[in-house]
Amino acid sequence: MSILAIETSCDDTCAAVVDGALVLSNVISSQADAHARFGGVVPEVASRHHLELVNPIVDAALADAGAELGDVESMAVTRGPGLIGALLVGVSTAKALAAAARMPLAGIDHLHGHVAANFLEPDPLEPPFLCLIASGGHTLLAGVTSHDSYEVLGQTLDDAAGEALDKGARLLGLGYPGGPAIQREAQNGDPEAFEFPIAMRDDPSLDFSFSGLKTALLYTVRDLGEERARELRADLAASYQAAVVDQLVVKLRRAARGGSKRRKLPGGGWRAVALGGGVAANSLLRDRVAGLCEREDLELKLVPLELCTDNAAMIASAARYVEAVPYPRYLDWDARA
Ligand code: KG4
Ligand code: ZN
Repeated sequence: MSILAIETSCDDTCAAVVDGALVLSNVISSQADAHARFGGVVPEVASRHHLELVNPIVDAALADAGAELGDVESMAVTRGPGLIGALLVGVSTAKALAAAARMPLAGIDHLHGHVAANFLEPDPLEPPFLCLIASGGHTLLAGVTSHDSYEVLGQTLDDAAGEALDKGARLLGLGYPGGPAIQREAQNGDPEAFEFPIAMRDDPSLDFSFSGLKTALLYTVRDLGEERARELRADLAASYQAAVVDQLVVKLRRAARGGSKRRKLPGGGWRAVALGGGVAANSLLRDRVAGLCEREDLELKLVPLELCTDNAAMIASAARYVEAVPYPRYLDWDARA
């Protein structure tokens, strides 16, 4: 059952062909360079790039899989959430290709895709498991008890973890994307040099908040003054990164244990933990979560990096468990911002 999937929800133009749990091709064209000089993703620029790239990327995904459109049995596309203009490019392309080949089309929730990345080879993970998804657009804890859905146990009340790293990097005069830039700078810094707030640590929920942390960095940099902040940049980056990671790990541990003393979660604890989203590439987070899983006797699943950040193979993976709509019923589909 080979599936051709398209993902254009943010700034990566992605297409993939998946057969069962096997990834036959997974092509990702990052637009990071196009957005770097603006210090973040510019939605209109992203849409225009998707429009230029989507056809060659689909062609490349088919060629890498050694397939033609006629060999594919069904199609899948991310319908949301994401940037509306960016999503529309993918949805329109998928509708047109699927209609041309009279194929069924599945509309996929982007976050279900991040969860479903864990179902792919190598080493597919079977539910139940707890999944922390942290990227530039979202931060949430998903309880996964079946292949076809997930339950949101907690999520960010304001900025996403990756967004906090991107904004922090900009404040520190580091490049974009901020996560890798902060990680690089932090290597030479002391994570205990500055005490940044770990928001929501004492809150019994599994929700996250990162906007206060960003403000704390802003004030610290302002109080230090430009020159001193530049001298202490590695310490600032290391302390800031540690505060972001601490909050993620505190909430992940609480969820894995099935809640806090004050508030038990329904369903009790979990046996396995998976990480997804771009922030899961962070080596401090990976180390800390690995330590947590060892101490708490939890199975840890880390998908390969190309399945962690936005990609279309994860969308095809989710599509295996979502009913595809036959031609022509999907032609009036819209995207969801
Ligand atoms: O999943 P992703 O590629 O795209 C979406 O946002 O959906 O995630 C991108 C985010 C950015 O905020 C980027 O700064 C962050 O992931 N990121 C990292 C690392 N690599 C990417 N954050 C921390 N450490 C990294 N090594
Ligand atoms: Zn994503």
